[in-house]
Amino acid sequence: MRILGIETSCDESSAAIVQRNSEGDLTVLSCATHSQIRIHQPYGGVVPEIASRNHLETINQIIDRAGTDAGTSLDGIDGIAVTNRPGLVGSLLVGVSAAKTLAYVLNKPLMAIHHLEGHAASVWLGSEAEKIRYPLLLAIVSGGHTNLYVITEPPHRWPERLFAQSCVGRSRDDAAGEAFDKIAKVLGFPYPGGKWIDQTAKNGDRKAFDLPRALPQKSTLDFSFSGLKTAAALAAKHLEQEGTLQERIPDLCASVQEAIVDALLAKMTLGVRKHRCRSVALVGGVAANSRLRARLSTDLSQKMDVPVFLPPLQYCTDNGAMIAAAGVFRFLQNHVVSPAERLSLSAVAYPEN
Ligand code: KG4
Ligand code: ZN
Repeated sequence: MRILGIETSCDESSAAIVQRNSEGDLTVLSCATHSQIRIHQPYGGVVPEIASRNHLETINQIIDRAGTDAGTSLDGIDGIAVTNRPGLVGSLLVGVSAAKTLAYVLNKPLMAIHHLEGHAASVWLGSEAEKIRYPLLLAIVSGGHTNLYVITEPPHRWPERLFAQSCVGRSRDDAAGEAFDKIAKVLGFPYPGGKWIDQTAKNGDRKAFDLPRALPQKSTLDFSFSGLKTAAALAAKHLEQEGTLQERIPDLCASVQEAIVDALLAKMTLGVRKHRCRSVALVGGVAANSRLRARLSTDLSQKMDVPVFLPPLQYCTDNGAMIAAAGVFRFLQNHVVSPAERLSLSAVAYPEN
């Protein structure tokens, strides 16, 4: 079975074709992505109007490329999955309109995918996913979300309202990726700053600055990163006044990164204990962070003996393959948009689930 996945919820136009074989393994046959990062960089963040116009200009070529790279005509696919929630509504609409049109013209099933479900499904693009044991603690850590879920069933049995039902922790203010990006901006790095902090931190001292770890109370699985953001901005201001900011940037990056990683790991460890989880998965853009990946392997895999599953690096940030993977699982359960509603499927910026 082959599913085309389309993702346009923010600043990446991406289309991919994912194949499921008879053993249930997923293979990415193609994944064509156009990143708008350089277009938004002068503004220090994503400009919604520019984002949707750019999606409009590129989406047809991206879908064509996904077909060509996979060596298949779009007639050869079994269904179309598209992110229709949550995200920038103008951007979502471009992908949704393209998917609806294709589904109508080709007369193929259409699957409406929650962006977070796409991130969650990205774990199954890795080769080890069949080893996952349940309950699974799933951490979705991106530019917009820092959420913990307890998942009790494999993806081909996920209910349609999975994410509304299984959330056990979330950020009360900024998302972890947002904290990375905002602090990076203060330090003069281009948007999005997470990967720059990651790279620069490699030359810094993680203990150089004593920064706050939020919500250390034992019981809550919630996160908070706004205090860290303020503390890092104050530290940067102080260094600037001293005239030492440039030389101390690696130390500050390493200390910020360690504070974020500590906070994520503390709550993931607590989540595993509290909900007796037998596996952990980490997805979303921040899952690309090298320090977080290393600490997950030492602190969770080795010390707690809980296996950790991560998507392949290229599927951590937004991409069409994760949406196609989620589409495969929806298709298997026949969770498809009914033909009567196929042309009226809408984009939802802030869905309830
Ligand atoms: O999942 P994603 O592509 O988009 C959202 O759905 O938000 O995540 C983007 C986020 C950005 O905040 C970006 O700075 C962060 O992921 N990110 C990283 C790294 N690579 C991307 N954060 C820390 N370290 C990285 N290596
Ligand atoms: Zn995302």
